[in-house]
Amino acid sequence: MYSYPDASSLVRALRPDEPITLLRPHAAERAARFFVEKFPGKSLYAVKANPSPALLETLWAAGITHYDVASLGEVRLVHKFLPDAKLCFMHPVKSERAIAQAYHNHGVRTFSLDSHEELEKIVRATATDGTAAADLELCVRIRVSSDHAKLSLAAKFGAEPAEVADLLVATRQAADSLGIAFHVGSQAMTPLAYAEAMEKVRAAIVEASVTVDIVDVGGGFPSVYPGMEPPPLEAYFETIHRTFEDLPISYSAELWCEPGRALCAEYASLLVKVEKRRDNELYINDGAYGALFDAAHVSWRFPVELMRESGSDEISEFAFYGPTCDDMDYMAGPFLLPADVKAGDYIEIGMLGAYGCAMRTEFNGFGETEDFTVEDEPMASLYTRIAANDLGNVHHIGKRSAQ
Ligand SMILES: Cc1ncc(COP(=O)(O)O)c(C=O)c1O
Repeated sequence: MYSYPDASSLVRALRPDEPITLLRPHAAERAARFFVEKFPGKSLYAVKANPSPALLETLWAAGITHYDVASLGEVRLVHKFLPDAKLCFMHPVKSERAIAQAYHNHGVRTFSLDSHEELEKIVRATATDGTAAADLELCVRIRVSSDHAKLSLAAKFGAEPAEVADLLVATRQAADSLGIAFHVGSQAMTPLAYAEAMEKVRAAIVEASVTVDIVDVGGGFPSVYPGMEPPPLEAYFETIHRTFEDLPISYSAELWCEPGRALCAEYASLLVKVEKRRDNELYINDGAYGALFDAAHVSWRFPVELMRESGSDEISEFAFYGPTCDDMDYMAGPFLLPADVKAGDYIEIGMLGAYGCAMRTEFNGFGETEDFTVEDEPMASLYTRIAANDLGNVHHIGKRSAQ
């Protein structure tokens, strides 16, 4: 893959007509090493956030050995590129065929569930010639609040408190190893989210009186975006460690987490071209059906930088239209850019490694992109303490450098 020192060198060399994905493997490697070294347990990468094979290989090389997969497609993908990885099938609602293939063809032994029906499916699908599997690692997902997170994951999955004890007892009988899992919602803005969820774990263990071998605190670890400045990740890890140590579980119980966003948000950004300006609306060549789904659908604000040597000192607020013939291809922002931005300019949109590049479609014939690696720092980082706000979310080129 071609490499440039930074986005502005690429613009000078290529002046590309299609949107470009800028990859920073060094940022993903740094995030992975941080989790491997500092999280007080095992870190499973949530593949959903960005399934790119190059990223999977980067994370593996940095020490991430466990992968949270949610579909048979993700099972096959990770198994193909990382044959020695441990795969954990953490979607609580799976087809029996997917469970059977994962278990019998891909060596998956870890599954999550949040109902008796799912438990029965897993037991049936993993049996061999009528004999139940004796090597299952089963994690019961409990419902916890998403109140501290920017994106809720509280509605769809998770056993209710009234049904948890019964389900834990039944799952214990089918499992070689029993886990309890939860997800506090994505982009959790305070460690309190985990402390509160751990209280639910405690109540469930006490009520069910079962031996629990794994506590899986899920994903939700934040990244840095304009207007969203979370506390340091160490504060999350300390809270999780302390509350885990207080649980009524054995010394040999394992602590797991499933970070998606935190491992890959800084991995990729997007370079777009302005095709037209109408007042303070910029028509750019990627959008809601491309890598900017969250900017359009949940009004997520990403950091932006005008790729021009000089620009107006006056800053204005802009909204973006994507390239499709569709009014919904609209990103309200506001995105703060020099007031004289115009058609033909290039803009880097940062922090799109998680739930950005992974969401691309080819709707309306758009979606083509080329990947290049760049060596400079991402627009914001939780690992080097560069915050999107410190950079002002308003840039001309040249403020960042490789560190
Ligand atoms: C089961 C599960 N684990 C982990 C994640 C990753 O979450 P995050 O990207 O917020 O860390 C998700 C995301 O939806 C998920 O559904």
